[in-house]
Amino acid sequence: MAQQNNNRAQFATKLGVIATTVGSAVGLGNIWRFPYEAGNNGGGAFLICYLLCIVALGIPVLCAEFAIGRSTRSNIFGAFENLKSSSKWHWIGYIGILSSVMILSFYSVVAGWTMEYLYQSFTGGLNLSGAEAFHNQFTSFSTGNWRPILWTVIFLLCNYIIVVRGVKKGIEKMSNLMMPALFVLLIIFCVNSLMMPKAKEGLEFLFSPDFSKITPEVVVSALGQAFFSLSLGLGTMMTYGSYFSKDTRIVRSATITASLDTLIAVLAGIIIFPAVFSFGMSPVQGPALVFEILPSIFAQMPGAQIWSVLFFFLLFLASLTSTISMSEVSIAFLSEEKKMSRIKASTINLIIALCGGVLSALSFGYLSDLNFFGLFDINFFSFFDFTSSNLLLPLGGMLISIFAGWRLERSALKNALTNEGKIGVKTFPLLVFCLKFVAPIAILLIFLLGLKLF
Ligand code: PHE
Repeated sequence: MAQQNNNRAQFATKLGVIATTVGSAVGLGNIWRFPYEAGNNGGGAFLICYLLCIVALGIPVLCAEFAIGRSTRSNIFGAFENLKSSSKWHWIGYIGILSSVMILSFYSVVAGWTMEYLYQSFTGGLNLSGAEAFHNQFTSFSTGNWRPILWTVIFLLCNYIIVVRGVKKGIEKMSNLMMPALFVLLIIFCVNSLMMPKAKEGLEFLFSPDFSKITPEVVVSALGQAFFSLSLGLGTMMTYGSYFSKDTRIVRSATITASLDTLIAVLAGIIIFPAVFSFGMSPVQGPALVFEILPSIFAQMPGAQIWSVLFFFLLFLASLTSTISMSEVSIAFLSEEKKMSRIKASTINLIIALCGGVLSALSFGYLSDLNFFGLFDINFFSFFDFTSSNLLLPLGGMLISIFAGWRLERSALKNALTNEGKIGVKTFPLLVFCLKFVAPIAILLIFLLGLKLF
């Protein structure tokens, strides 16, 4: 197929492959963004659309990214240049870079909130009672100007220190430990939420869809959430695919990654919605939802402080493994394609993210009334979030699926997915069908539907 750079680092173990790709996929997208999007978009109606997007679009595009990454052993730019050097396909890479810096900007703000909550849990600052008190606490923190910026900067510096060293082995080890720990904690919180007085209402909200609530907005949000949660459409998974060994089973890895990622999002929903109804709150709270509900949940559990310290610490680590993976898109471009040193590339990435991060952090306070040059009635935070997740990632995913389905030779795709014919992949025809027709057409249709939203 294409040139191979066999010196490239590879994941050490099979578990490492899964832990690292799941490490990228699982993060604030599952625990913070999924519940708030589901809450805003009618619960069950959103969940159905989301699951359909994961199965019919997410898994095939994830397979395509892994396959292209491993075959070319390259970042998103190098990959397309290796495969079709004379063409304009590497423009997908520019879309990826733009998405990655936008996401990094607003994501770091929310990761900063996580750090504030970790700090507050440590110092006993979350020792309040009543949902109202937690609501006020979050509002006064997030609308302030200095603390959110300070934590955003600290988070970006943590991210910088790790990416500048390019420590893949470290990330692999950290994910191996953190993911199972996070999972166990979530299960404990689920059991706790299921015992709440209005658990049934919460579960009904999430699991029994009211089909009349499926609007263009719900479908566009579900598509965006699916791509965001799987870290798809910007080349992150392509880069991780380039670290796969020749024996890694791509379709299986993609299916396991998508299943675990979805499971964690659904678990977060099972924790949040029973509590929302039991505390008499509205599920339509936007980005604040989880930061108001979770501390209220912990406050009711015996040993509240320990649970919240543990949880916010793991969420901080989970956010870090996600931002490390998204930073890799622009850093790999600058260092591998533009031949910059890793330090220089990481520093440029940091500076851009700091600018975007400060604008996003101020979006709840000083810049909250901004109507974006008079064009849109949204602040920087929502602009970065909406544009990257709902537009750029699906656009990138659509182009990747068109490339894999129509431009790449069928035999090359088959070789990549079957490990040069060593393993059978029964779903190959189905995957090709999804990449050729289902993904491009569905994403295009959803875009057209969504035009109404602009
Ligand atoms: N999937 C990550 C999450 O759910 C976010 C992410 C998006 C990471 C895009 C990398 C690239 O938190």
